Amino acid sequence: MEFMELAKERYSVRKYKDTKLTQEQIDRLLEVSNLAPTGKNNQPHRIYVLQSDEALAKINEITPCAFHAPVVFMFTYNKDEDWKNAREEGIHSGIEDVSIVATHVMFEAVEMGLGTCWVNAYPNIEAEKAFNIPENEKSVLLLPIGYPAEDSEPSERHTLKKDLSEIVRYL
Ligand SMILES: Cc1cc2nc3c(=O)[nH]c(=O)nc-3n(C[C@H](O)[C@H](O)[C@H](O)COP(=O)(O)O)c2cc1C
Repeated sequence: MEFMELAKERYSVRKYKDTKLTQEQIDRLLEVSNLAPTGKNNQPHRIYVLQSDEALAKINEITPCAFHAPVVFMFTYNKDEDWKNAREEGIHSGIEDVSIVATHVMFEAVEMGLGTCWVNAYPNIEAEKAFNIPENEKSVLLLPIGYPAEDSEPSERHTLKKDLSEIVRYL
């Protein structure tokens, strides 16, 4: 699909069919994740594929925002590996790195006829504990992935876009 069409097609899916993803589908999503750029190519991101009944039960217990999808990717980054800006104290690339990697997965999922929802409103530390995430990793976002339910539809917010004149400044 042409990218503009893909971007128009995407919306946050919050209701999924039970249909499991095949290993080939998961592999394809992971393959595209590995094409994403990261700061200095440090690749500090880690992807946890929550797909076992146990892992899915855990994540659905912690947050309603896993939406009982058949698979949930949890993205973290290794705090020791992400790029640090030597010219600006406190600026580092971990969240940006994870975001661009997850964005690659999000759009490839649409291309594959799947839906996703970007989720950052979950108890990150509780999730890190639940899945024994190493101390030096930070959990950033969840991406539930699956076939949208028959009655899934975009929320009202989906089409509420500011006019570009409010957003863009030509200098
Ligand atoms: C950084 C970020 C965090 C988000 N966190 C959540 C979330 O925790 N729960 C949720 O249901 N949706 C979440 N969303 C989805 C947004 O609410 C959604 O993208 C927005 O309302 C526009 O709707 P659309 O994705 O259908 O176009 C998040 C999206 C982004 C980009």
